[in-house]
Amino acid sequence: MVKRMHLARAIGPFFLGAIFMYSIQIFYSYPSLENYFNSHVRALDVERYGYGGGYVDHAPREYGWKHNGRYKVKRHHADKVMKTVKREELKPSKFQLLIDEVNHLLAEDMITKNDESELVINPKLQHPTAETGEIIYNKDITIPRHKHYVDEPVDAHNYTYIHKPKVCSKVTGRRIKVFLIFIVTTSPKNLERRMLIRNTYGSKRRWPVLTAGVFRTVFLLGAVDNMTLQNDIHDESETYKDIVQEDFVDSYANLTLKTVMGLKWVTNYCRHARYTMKIDDDSMIHQNRLLQVLKNATAVKFTAAESLMDAPVIRNTSSKYYISETYYPLPTYPPYLNGPGYLLSSDLTEGIYNVAIKTQLFPWEDVFLGICLKQLGVLPKLYHDFIFIVDKESRIANKTRAVKLFKHFTVVSNLKPDDMMLMWTNTRIRISRDTRP
Ligand SMILES: *[C@@H]1O[C@H](CO)[C@@H](O)[C@H](O)[C@H]1NC(C)=O
Ligand SMILES: *[C@@H]1O[C@H](CO)[C@@H](O)[C@H](O)[C@H]1NC(C)=O
Ligand SMILES: *[C@@H]1O[C@H](CO)[C@@H](O)[C@H](O)[C@H]1NC(C)=O
Ligand SMILES: *[C@@H]1O[C@H](CO)[C@@H](O)[C@H](O)[C@H]1NC(C)=O
Ligand SMILES: *[C@@H]1O[C@H](CO)[C@@H](O)[C@H](O)[C@H]1NC(C)=O
Ligand SMILES: *[C@@H]1O[C@H](CO)[C@@H](O)[C@H](O)[C@H]1NC(C)=O
Repeated sequence: MVKRMHLARAIGPFFLGAIFMYSIQIFYSYPSLENYFNSHVRALDVERYGYGGGYVDHAPREYGWKHNGRYKVKRHHADKVMKTVKREELKPSKFQLLIDEVNHLLAEDMITKNDESELVINPKLQHPTAETGEIIYNKDITIPRHKHYVDEPVDAHNYTYIHKPKVCSKVTGRRIKVFLIFIVTTSPKNLERRMLIRNTYGSKRRWPVLTAGVFRTVFLLGAVDNMTLQNDIHDESETYKDIVQEDFVDSYANLTLKTVMGLKWVTNYCRHARYTMKIDDDSMIHQNRLLQVLKNATAVKFTAAESLMDAPVIRNTSSKYYISETYYPLPTYPPYLNGPGYLLSSDLTEGIYNVAIKTQLFPWEDVFLGICLKQLGVLPKLYHDFIFIVDKESRIANKTRAVKLFKHFTVVSNLKPDDMMLMWTNTRIRISRDTRP
């Protein structure tokens, strides 16, 4: 490969193109590359703007990096992000880096092909003799240098409930017809956010009563060792009866456990709900848009999210999303639902839970769910304009502009409480008294 690359430089771009064509065979998941070297390439600075994903895809006249399947970021960030560059000016593209990575990993036996010619992590990886190697510090998560994802222990999720509300049934135990259950990942200290949600989309009174059922909300928490805080949570749970809490340690690194707990609780206590929506406590919902999405929803195998279909694994050590080759050798993640807000039909809530307790945990809950979905043979659907994750405060500093922006999305995430409220008051639907339950 190296030799050929030298030759390619000598002969010129034509031959380089041919090598790319060869690489496509390996990199089958990017079928449209034959167009890649046409005149202009649009480059999106994914790293700089904090998006974990991006891929090269086929479009009639435009090629290059897309976010979540298309060039949507252009609209949000204007021309600062999207720039048209001539091919000659292009730095080694991320795509080329991925191809190099695939070739390298295949050569090193870190990845292999399964019966369906899919690239998979080689299950026969040489296990390290000691795990005392240097620790890779990834902002909030540490991974020992020699650890492989395939060697992570499976977590059977044998945790005990501290609180398990019964919001989906009456005191008598009779089921309430629930259309959608929100499971909100929240941090113990975020009482303000929980109160805000209880008064906005988290309130059943803010939603119309559908023939298909009502809306319900619960909050997901792990255990805290601060007794004062735990007592506050007991009181909060007493008062609002909407806290799901288990005895695993509540921490950012345990976020995956929290999501699994949510799926478990729904399976245990709200299995009859038609849909589950997992949402973070810093996110706000556009009610009307959500209802529109649900209007078209299928009863089973339904997902709605701004799915990342072929997100490259970030190998940039300065990135918050850095994952080493050793830990996760595949160059891309399986398709997954972008974490801060996604919808699942009940069969998937239960199905993912059943798979999750037999699958090695991945540090990020959304990628982990993608790994589970893949085992279930479910390909997530990509909804455009489903989520907007505010990456810089300055983008929403102007409130008039912020409101305009919010209106384009079903979920806006990474918001301060004030901005959650701003979005709510500008997008909420007005329910007249007589349609309330
Ligand atoms: C789950 O944990 C409890 C104690 O916390 C233990 O008694 C029980 O055997 C465990 N069950 C399984 C299946 O590991
Ligand atoms: C425990 O939680 C309380 C209430 O949130 C807080 O005021 C206090 O500082 C916490 N104590 C410690 C040791 O973190
Ligand atoms: C996650 O929770 C488990 C179970 O409580 C605990 O043993 C572990 O230390 C927690 N991990 C982190 C990183 O907080
Ligand atoms: C719902 O389906 C209709 C008809 O197929 C389509 O026109 C509309 O865009 C869909 N809406 C959403 C939010 O997917
Ligand atoms: C790696 O990430 C850092 C911070 O996100 C960024 O400044 C840098 O340009 C990135 N490097 C590469 C090679 O993409
Ligand atoms: C905020 O945005 C609106 C609409 O884009 C614009 O008309 C207004 O001048 C902006 N205000 C400031 C203070 O920049």
